[in-house]
Order: sequence, then structure tokens, then C-alpha cells
Amino acid sequence: MAGTPVSAGDTGGGESTRIVPVWDPLVRLIHWSLALCILLNGYVTDPESDLHEAIGYIALALVLTRLLWGLIGPRPARLMSFPPSPARAMRHLRALQQGDKTVHLGHNPLGALMVWNIWATVGVIVTTGIMMGTRRYFGVQWVLSVHEIMFNWLIVSVALHIGGVIFDSWRSRVPLVRAMIDGRKRIPADRPVE
Ligand code: HEM
Ligand code: HEM
Repeated sequence: MAGTPVSAGDTGGGESTRIVPVWDPLVRLIHWSLALCILLNGYVTDPESDLHEAIGYIALALVLTRLLWGLIGPRPARLMSFPPSPARAMRHLRALQQGDKTVHLGHNPLGALMVWNIWATVGVIVTTGIMMGTRRYFGVQWVLSVHEIMFNWLIVSVALHIGGVIFDSWRSRVPLVRAMIDGRKRIPADRPVE
């Protein structure tokens, strides 16, 4: 079951770790597929091509599937496990300043805000993309501008997201990227878990 430690190991330095399955295969597949879609549509496809549209629709389907999975999937994947709460994010920031060593099994409150921001931003990009293909909004400048501005915001967000992942991997001594690849968080035994 996700969230239940399956084993304890030795990291090699004589330090014991708990290995906890956190991210199920669907969460991981959707994560890396969405990243690929954004990379392709932002930097590879011709924006006027059918391929650009198709990849955009795939990105939308990925986000919608993830939201549905967030209602019925295992606990760490549940949307209720990481509500977008600025108040919790501020508390988390203050805890970080005080050197808190807590490891979050799922997304930490700052990461949670970023995840919701990324999904919402993809939603706006795809919506404006679809609007550009309709009679009503075809050639309407503000729609293209919103599409472009939100894409730029997405890239800023992804950069902050990757920065946050690197920072939190360092702070918590949990290799978070590895966990998004094989699903398991390797948590040093001396760290409190939330
Ligand atoms: C366009 C690129 C990317 C996008 C849009 C993106 C988006 C996301 C989203 C939406 C989540 C939440 C996953 C979920 O609950 O379903 C997430 C989590 C995560 N992403 Fe990314 N990501 C991108 C690139 C990357 C890259 C390049 C890395 C590795 C350096 C990475 C590492 C992670 C990790 C480790 C988590 C889990 C964080 C945690 O433990 O709370 N992401 N990402
Ligand atoms: C992950 C989703 C998407 C991303 C990251 C994305 C990204 C982009 C980017 C970077 C541009 C270039 C803007 C420029 O020329 O500077 C663009 C243009 C455009 N996109 Fe998307 N897009 C996405 C989804 C869609 C979808 C779903 C559609 C349509 C169904 C769409 C239709 C268009 C159109 C019509 C243009 C303008 C082409 C032109 O006349 O220059 N996009 N998009």
C-alpha cells in the first residue's frame, strides 16, 4: 500500500533508511508525459501544425486524468492530501527558516501550490489554444497573447519547481527525483515524517 514502509536499508554510509512507496505508476507516467508534451509544444512543434494541437490535447487529457485519479487514487495522489493553501505554505516556509527537518510523504505545502499552479496554467494554455481555432476567436490578438504569456509563466513555474525539488532533496536528504522515477521515497531514519 502506498505510504507504508516496505523495507529499511543501508545507504552505504552506515545510515539506515525507510523505503516508502509514494508515487504510483499512473502519477509517474502522467508527470513525465506532461513534461514531455510541454517541452515538445514549447520548443519543438510548429505552433500552427496539427501536431501542436494534438500534443496540446494530450496534455489536457493528462491533467484531467490526473485530477480524476486525485479523487479515486491512493492517498499520496489524492487532491485532498495536498490542497492549495497559501496559509499552509507560509507555515511551511517559517518551519524551513527554523531548520525543520520534517519529510513530507506526499507534496509539501509549497510544492502543492506549485502543482496546482502548473495544472491551472496548462488549462489556460490549452483553452486559449482551442479558442484560437474557433470562428469567434480566430485571429483575436489577446487570445494568442494569453497563450504566449501563460506559456512563459509555465516555464518560470517549471524552473521554480525544479529548483524547489533540488532544494528539498538537499534539505530532507530524500532523493525526490528518484522517487518520481521508481515511486519510492528513501527517508533517512532520523527524519520525522508528515
Ligand atoms: C515541464 C516540465 C515539468 C512539469 C510540467 C512538472 C510538473 C509536475 C507536477 C504537476 C507534479 C505533481 C505530480 C502529481 O502529483 O501528479 C510534479 C512533481 C514532481 N516533479 Fe515535476 N514537472 C516537470 C519537470 C520536472 C523535472 C525535470 C523534474 C526533475 C528534475 C521533476 C521532478 C518532480 C518531482 C521530484 C516531483 C515530486 C515532488 C514531491 O516529492 O513532492 N519535474 N511535477
Ligand atoms: C501544452 C499545451 C500547449 C503549449 C505548451 C503551447 C505552446 C505554444 C507556444 C509556445 C506557442 C508559440 C507562440 C509564439 O508564436 O510565440 C503557441 C502558439 C499557438 N498554439 Fe499552442 N500550446 C499548447 C496547446 C495548444 C493547443 C491545444 C492548441 C489548439 C488546439 C494550440 C494552438 C496554438 C496556436 C493556434 C498558436 C499560434 C500559432 C501562430 O499563429 O503563430 N496550442 N503555443
